[in-house]
Amino acid sequence: MTTNTARNSTHNITKIGVIGAGQMGGGIAQVAAVSGFATTVFDAFPGAIDKCKALHAKLLAKGVEKGKLAQADADAAQGRLTYSQSLDNLAGSDILIEAVVEDIAVKKDLFRKAAGLLAKNGILASNTSSISITDLATAVPEISGRFIGMHFFNPVPVMKLVEVIKGLATSEETTARTIALAGAMGKTAVPANDRPGFVSNRVLMPMINEAFYAWMEGVAEPAHIDEIMKLGCAHPMGPLRLADFIGLDTCVHIMEVLAEGLNNPRYRACPLLKQLVTAGRLGDKTGRGVFDYSQK
Ligand code: 3HC
Repeated sequence: MTTNTARNSTHNITKIGVIGAGQMGGGIAQVAAVSGFATTVFDAFPGAIDKCKALHAKLLAKGVEKGKLAQADADAAQGRLTYSQSLDNLAGSDILIEAVVEDIAVKKDLFRKAAGLLAKNGILASNTSSISITDLATAVPEISGRFIGMHFFNPVPVMKLVEVIKGLATSEETTARTIALAGAMGKTAVPANDRPGFVSNRVLMPMINEAFYAWMEGVAEPAHIDEIMKLGCAHPMGPLRLADFIGLDTCVHIMEVLAEGLNNPRYRACPLLKQLVTAGRLGDKTGRGVFDYSQK
C-alpha cells in the first residue's frame, strides 16, 4: 500500500463519499483514504458502521505489521476517514460511490437523495455488479452526464481492477475523470459498455453457474471441481468457493440480470444454486454455502 497524492488536475477530486459500509463500500473507503482522499463512509445501520471501523483499524494495522504501510501513513489514512449515519454528511463530495444492496429501487431512491449533495461538477458512481447504468441514471436525469459505473472487485484492497461502465448519457469528461481517479486509487481502470453483466460478470458468472451444473449432474464432487479449476486453470479460488465468497444470492441475481437482459435461457441460474439460496445457504456471510464455514 502506498500513499498517493489525491489532488490531481485530471480527476479534480479531493473529497470522496461512499454510500454503504459493507464489504465493498468499506473496502472502497479504505483504499480511497490510503490513497490520500478525504473519505466519508455513510451507512444507515449503526452495526455496519461499527464493523467497518473495526475492519479498517485491523487491516491498516496489518498493513503496518507486514511492512506494506508506514505507521504514519496508516495513521494519516485513518485520519482521513469519517463515518456517518447521516447521508447529509456526504455534502460537498466530489464523487459519491454507491455500494449498497443490488436492489434497483433502493439504489434509485438513494441516488435521488444523494444527487443534491454533490459538489459542483461532482460525479455519482455506482459499484453495481450488473444493473444497467443507463437505467440507474434515469433516477437523476439532471445529472445523467455525470453518472457512471465504477465496479470494484472483492477484496477491494487486493484486486487491481475497476471496471468503468459508461451509461448512454455518461459524458466523456466523466469517464476520463473516473478512469483517472481509479488510477489515483492504485487501480487499473478498464472500460466496458453498459450491457448485462458488463464484461466481468458476463464471463465469470456463467462459469460459476456451470460449476453448479457440473456438481448437480455428478460430474465431480464440489471440492474436486474447485481443485481442477484451481490447478488446471490457475484460478486463485475454485468457482464454487468463489461463489460462496461472492454470495450465492448475488450469483443468482446476476444470472437473472443476464437471462432477462440477454433474453436467452442459457443464462438461467442452475436449480441447485437456487435451491441453496432458498435454504439460506448464501456462502461465507451465512457460514454455509457450497462449503461449511461454521468452524471459522
Ligand atoms: N482485505 C484486505 N486484504 C485481504 C483481504 C481483505 N478482505 N483478504 C485477503 N487479503 C490479503 C491478505 O492480507 C494477503 O496479503 P499479503 O499477500 O500481503 O499477505 C493476500 O490478500 C492474500 O490473502 P491470503 O494469504 O489470506 O489468502 P489467499 O492467498 O487465498 O488470497 C484472495 C485470498 C486474495 C481472496 C484470493 O483467494 C483471490 O484472489 N481470490 C479470488 C478473488 C476474486 O476473484 N474476486 C473477484 C470476485 S467477483 C467480484 O468481486 C465482482 C462482483 O460483481 C461479483
